[in-house]
Amino acid sequence: MAKYIGKEMSRVDGVAKVTGKAKYAAEFKVPNLTYGVIVTSTIAKGTITSIDTTEASRAPGVVHILTHENYPRPSSGQNGGGPRRGGFRALDSAQIFFNMQPIALVVAETFEQARFAARLVKATYKEEKPMTDLIGALDQVPGQQGARTRGNPAAAFEAAPVKIEAEYTIPIEHHNPMEPHAAIAFWEGDKLTVFDKTQGVSMVRDHLAGVFQIPAENVRVTSPFVGGAFGSSLAPNYYPALTATAARVVKRPVKVVYTRTQMFTGHGYRSHTWQKVSLAAGRDGKLMAFMHDSRNNSSTIQDWVENTTSHPRNIYACPNALSIQRPVKTDMPPPCAMRAPGAVSGMFALECAMDELAYELKIDPLELRLINFTDTEPDSGKPYSSKALRECYHLGAEKFGWKDRSFEPRSMRDGRLLVGWGMATGVWGAMQVPASAKVALKVDGTAYVTSATADIGPGTYTVMTLITAEHMGLDTDKVKFELGDSNFPTAPVQGGSFTTASVGSAIYGAAQNIRQKLIDLANKDTNSVFKTAKLEDTELLEGKLCFKDGSTGSVDIFDLMRRNNVTVLEDLYTSRPSPERQNYATGAHGAQFVEVKIDPAVGTIKVTRVIEVTACGKIMNPKTSHSQEIGGVVWGIGMALHEATEVDHRHGRIMNPNLQHYHVPVNADIHEIETLFVEEDDKIVNPLGVKGMGELGMVGIPAAIANAVFHATGKRIRDLPITPDKLLAESI
Ligand code: MOS
Repeated sequence: MAKYIGKEMSRVDGVAKVTGKAKYAAEFKVPNLTYGVIVTSTIAKGTITSIDTTEASRAPGVVHILTHENYPRPSSGQNGGGPRRGGFRALDSAQIFFNMQPIALVVAETFEQARFAARLVKATYKEEKPMTDLIGALDQVPGQQGARTRGNPAAAFEAAPVKIEAEYTIPIEHHNPMEPHAAIAFWEGDKLTVFDKTQGVSMVRDHLAGVFQIPAENVRVTSPFVGGAFGSSLAPNYYPALTATAARVVKRPVKVVYTRTQMFTGHGYRSHTWQKVSLAAGRDGKLMAFMHDSRNNSSTIQDWVENTTSHPRNIYACPNALSIQRPVKTDMPPPCAMRAPGAVSGMFALECAMDELAYELKIDPLELRLINFTDTEPDSGKPYSSKALRECYHLGAEKFGWKDRSFEPRSMRDGRLLVGWGMATGVWGAMQVPASAKVALKVDGTAYVTSATADIGPGTYTVMTLITAEHMGLDTDKVKFELGDSNFPTAPVQGGSFTTASVGSAIYGAAQNIRQKLIDLANKDTNSVFKTAKLEDTELLEGKLCFKDGSTGSVDIFDLMRRNNVTVLEDLYTSRPSPERQNYATGAHGAQFVEVKIDPAVGTIKVTRVIEVTACGKIMNPKTSHSQEIGGVVWGIGMALHEATEVDHRHGRIMNPNLQHYHVPVNADIHEIETLFVEEDDKIVNPLGVKGMGELGMVGIPAAIANAVFHATGKRIRDLPITPDKLLAESI
């Protein structure tokens, strides 16, 4: 019987966060600090012909100005010779790849002095015409090269009695974490320390070791608290290397913080996608063919493929499938992963198309999903380790009252408001990747646990404390878990929603080993009742080593340690996905039901009710888990109705790089949201039976909303976000 797992637990770092005690990257106090301010380009494509820093250098307090002309490079001619992660290195050359590209770093005694001087840096350019519009360049990648095919989709499509074909577009969207990217860097001899805002301290350490050609153990990166990231810090951004380079040049600590505007060109974004979906079915609703052609805008520096097609081709039973996904080079910064990358975009297209097909077939949209339900993964034919999606559909429909929905569009009203009910399916992987953690059980009755993982907001501090307490048989207040330091055992980035499955499994493994060490210690006593005990028959509970079945003969573990003069028992454990996983398909699933109310006079849409049911294995901490799913729904509402990065294609420049003009949902946009879990008992995915949920919660929401808008109005808006002007242009 679990003592902590599955019970609500408040965030262990909650008080520190709300009282300001939690320190974020830019908040560390370092003596003798200087401040760097980034200067960015005013063109999108071309070459810097001159960069004049004379006036800026004379401004009060300026210590140094770095440009591509004086940027230190080792003899290799590379910018540090390091890996080109994130695709872009600042101040590498005179070439301009995108608008608002960094062209100088002004370092001064104070932030204000650096900011003032930054405005005095003058650059001239040889400008070329940029091409930043995906839609204008779709033909850059003609043909079907690289297509993934199952069966014979073209022939099956041709032969099918019912078919639909539609194009869907999603604009560029930006992560807008509250905490901007920031780093403080300083050198002590050839040892580098960086306070960074990142999803992976081990990754940034390795990146910087590569850039400066120094051993990884000479670099320490810390990131104890992160004010949201959502994928924006999954790869090393350009600023840690830039900041560390500046610190080496000025021989003092340097701090660099992005402005909100720089957050729009400094780390990537969800790419602009164009997707064409073709669905064919029999009159019974059974899918016969699925074709998915997806293109996304990328950069000229590095290709980024938005993986829109992997989930859609596997979510329903369909013998014939074709998927194409291609990047289109544009003069924009490189895109990157943003919460539920690819999945939320691809499932928007598929789940809207499924709704269109349901109307073509005159079959209830939920019924159509159930008709095409699959217990095996279509591509591999493997059974799922667990997949309670059917239960999600049923529970969600019941809670929402789906049976009372009238099928016809424009058939439901609330006074003069049009009412629409829509639904969709959500999916995300149930990944596990190698991760290490160290558990130290101390004779004073506490456990100290470390791993170089991150907590970008989901509640990692809390869940790791809970997992340790459960498996070490200690109260949660006796456990201290620390993360975000590259000196801790190596962990992957916090991404892909795989942290609890990966790092949690490492803690679980270490706890098993420590229990074995305690059994060995107990067995030094000739009268030990554990002489023939199997590890799996024992457990640690309330400070005692005992038998799971409650048989007599427990031993107080701290007495045991004291008697044997052991002050600490440690285990460093690296968890890896089990070979058994290979025999199964794995995934996390969900079903969303949405109500919208639309004012036909002005085209405003309110998402008045959302029921989201999710099946993602075992729920460790319901409190933070619901919080994750609610957050996903809120973001899904933003994606459906608000978010768009607007680019002026004449200049290739983002027009709304701020939170005034880049719209995200506010409290007034959010109404009733209920999240539910259907728990799965799945020991194949990992020993804890957990699947990722952080990204899953938003997948399906934009489609469910678009489908509800169609149900309310009879208008199919296939271009996100669904703003009032689009609805009015379609004259509701
Ligand atoms: Mo997530 S986009 O893997 O940080």
